[in-house]
Amino acid sequence: MKTIRLNVRCGVRESAVFCRKHALKALAAAHPELWTAGGMIFTDSNVAARYGNAVARWLGGLPMFVMPAGEEHKNEETLFSLLGAMAKAGLRRNATLIALGGGVVGDVGGLAASLYMRGIACIQVPTTLLSQVDSAVGGKTAIDFCGVKNLVGAFYPPREVYVDPVFLGTLPHVALKCGLGEIVKHGALHAPIFARLSAAEDLFDLGFLAEIVPENIAFKAGIVQKDPFEGDLRRCLNLGHTTAHAIELASGLSHGECVLWGLILESGLAARHCAADPAFLGALAQLCRRVLGEAAPPPLEAARALLDKKNTAADRVTLTVPVAAEKYEILELPYPQYAAELKALGEELC
Ligand SMILES: NC(=O)c1ccc[n+]([C@@H]2O[C@H](COP(=O)([O-])OP(=O)(O)OC[C@H]3O[C@@H](n4cnc5c(N)ncnc54)[C@H](O)[C@@H]3O)[C@@H](O)[C@H]2O)c1
Repeated sequence: MKTIRLNVRCGVRESAVFCRKHALKALAAAHPELWTAGGMIFTDSNVAARYGNAVARWLGGLPMFVMPAGEEHKNEETLFSLLGAMAKAGLRRNATLIALGGGVVGDVGGLAASLYMRGIACIQVPTTLLSQVDSAVGGKTAIDFCGVKNLVGAFYPPREVYVDPVFLGTLPHVALKCGLGEIVKHGALHAPIFARLSAAEDLFDLGFLAEIVPENIAFKAGIVQKDPFEGDLRRCLNLGHTTAHAIELASGLSHGECVLWGLILESGLAARHCAADPAFLGALAQLCRRVLGEAAPPPLEAARALLDKKNTAADRVTLTVPVAAEKYEILELPYPQYAAELKALGEELC
């Protein structure tokens, strides 16, 4: 695999994204200053267990802070423990934090880098499919707070991102499903990705995934560049997400699986309320189903959608729904209507 370099401009900052094999080796070679100016590796317990040897081989000598794996640890306790470890290690303003892991590590690590001494360099090495195609690109960082996902965060683009397909090889099937959720969402917004997904024999084939990751990064980068701080355009990336968040806490499913269910259910809402293309919505739902398998619709807690940060009024739910190829609409529904229609759509799917 040859190295693919993409530059992602996010406001005044630019991130260089390298898609290539042997990411840790390349990172170490490109940054000899890590051993003089200072650096720290931030990862989680699962990634440390699998890739600790590779880290020791290529980034040996750098201190490492390991958080317990899991979304439930994406909180202020982990954030401040990490900041404490950075302070104890004596990191200075010219130091670099390397966030090696999935979206949780990337989000917490990016936020810690933005806060420490008012901002030190951050390099992301995303190790899940979801983090490679989505969370490591775009500069959003956050922790969950007071029971609300991503309530406290900052826009803080990493200086560099190293995307290595090798990491995908140790992911459980559910983590591939999770990443495919965001990839299918990209497909709904970008016809060439949709066409490749629809034509793929095996959506879970690692070779196929390695090929489509750079295309997905380029697509997301294009959106981020035009709208770095989530004004109007970047809202398209919330496609299916309001309902996904309502499913996520009630079902315990992964974020991406919830996005797939969110896309299916919000397609149903779009069919009722928007001038939608039924053939496209049918093809989108079929693609979502190919990733989800035979699973029955999950439980959801519609009231969670009221907590969504994109809502403009306390009793209305604002959704970004798919309506046709590369087209979406912002749909606003009174909460009781949203809850009742979701219930009916869920029953139709059973
Ligand atoms: N910042 C953004 O723009 C953005 C976008 C989408 C999602 N997110 C956030 O990302 C998070 C979800 O990310 P995720 O799905 O990567 O979850 P995750 O970081 O929790 O990783 C999922 C699991 O896979 C394990 N893992 C990671 N890499 C592995 C590997 N190579 N082999 C084996 N196991 C590995 C992790 O330890 C974890 O148990 C959520 O918190 C979500 O809010 C952020």
